[in-house]
Amino acid sequence: MPHLKVEPFETKELDRLIAKEECLHFRAVPESEAPVELLGVELEGEPFLLEIKKHPEATVLRADKISRPLDVGRIKRCLAALAEKAGWKILHSNILESGRRPPLAAEAEKSIRDFESMHFPKRKVALEVGFGSGRHLLWQAERHPDTLFIGVEIHTPSAQQVLRQIRLRSLQNVWVVNYDARLLLEMLPSNLLEALYVHFPVPWDKKPHRRVISDAFVAEALRVLRPGALLELRTDSENYYRYALEVFSRPPKADFRVEKNRDLPVVSKYEARWRRMEKNIYTLSLRALEESPARLREFDFSFREPVDHSAIGRLPRKPVVGEDFFVHFGRAYRFSDGSGGIVECSFGSFDRPEHKYLIYRDGKSLRYFPERPVATATNARAHQKIGAILYGC
Ligand SMILES: C[S@@+](CC[C@H](N)C(=O)[O-])C[C@H]1O[C@@H](n2cnc3c(N)ncnc32)[C@H](O)[C@@H]1O
Repeated sequence: MPHLKVEPFETKELDRLIAKEECLHFRAVPESEAPVELLGVELEGEPFLLEIKKHPEATVLRADKISRPLDVGRIKRCLAALAEKAGWKILHSNILESGRRPPLAAEAEKSIRDFESMHFPKRKVALEVGFGSGRHLLWQAERHPDTLFIGVEIHTPSAQQVLRQIRLRSLQNVWVVNYDARLLLEMLPSNLLEALYVHFPVPWDKKPHRRVISDAFVAEALRVLRPGALLELRTDSENYYRYALEVFSRPPKADFRVEKNRDLPVVSKYEARWRRMEKNIYTLSLRALEESPARLREFDFSFREPVDHSAIGRLPRKPVVGEDFFVHFGRAYRFSDGSGGIVECSFGSFDRPEHKYLIYRDGKSLRYFPERPVATATNARAHQKIGAILYGC
């Protein structure tokens, strides 16, 4: 990830720049003893945070994990512009390393929020969950130009790599979403998909709650698949196969079939590995049989009123656990001009949590940063709880 290592400087000096540069919004100082400050920046319309970590011999700047843009070029441009404006002495940086890798296909990158009111430009839409190196996704897209292929991948470097491939191959019918597939599924309209591929998901034998396939996932899959369309799971794991057999056999309005060692015309990176090891490969295909009702999507993630600093001081340190959700407040930061602050907040379902910040101006505003949570019923319940905690009720 792009970073900048510069000679130590007084971070207070940044306040002067913040006052005159529109793309710098705030400097936030931790309320606890921690050598990390946050700088609120905006580049090319995208707000995010830079982390400023102070070491005795150097100060290191990089994009923060929760809000960082997928396009590393954007982070590099931001760090370079800042270094120039602030006049820092650079000790080490990787922001000038360019030209070796082609740029990402920016138009193919979709954020989870885009799906709140998405127009799908093609009548046929398919989704691949956890595409990894993207071999299957790109292969499908090249062969079926009449279908829009959406790939969702939680691993950022894989998403970036496939966005580069989309650009190199000039593909017009692939979108990439760098997010948890289980949340994306909840955002899609009912009866949309022609196919849903889940190839070689991580088996998570020791942490089964992290598996992509679950009763909830299958219920959502059947909602978003058109009647007759398939959820295709391929796995080399005997454990996962047996687990998926059980999960797939539960929904009443679906049927499924199992095939052993069925060949596909394209072999993914993982499949190639398992084949070399002569493992059995199971394909489970679950077919949606009925049309599903439209998805309920009216969730309001605004806060009824602003808060001030005292409410932040009262936040519980331990996770608050509800029936099917949790809320956990992390590190709190105060803006250097004393007008408000920002607090780390994880919440939502236990198996697919959201990680956001709450940003507030004392008595004036309160919202999520960098964007609202994904509009799911569980997140909406967690949001209600966050409000209740903040307002002390
Ligand atoms: C074992 S790899 C298989 C990759 C690819 N399908 C293949 O066959 O080569 C599993 C992939 O799923 C991704 N993944 C795991 N959990 C995910 C989730 N909840 N949402 C999206 N992607 C996920 C991982 O990052 C990884 O790239």
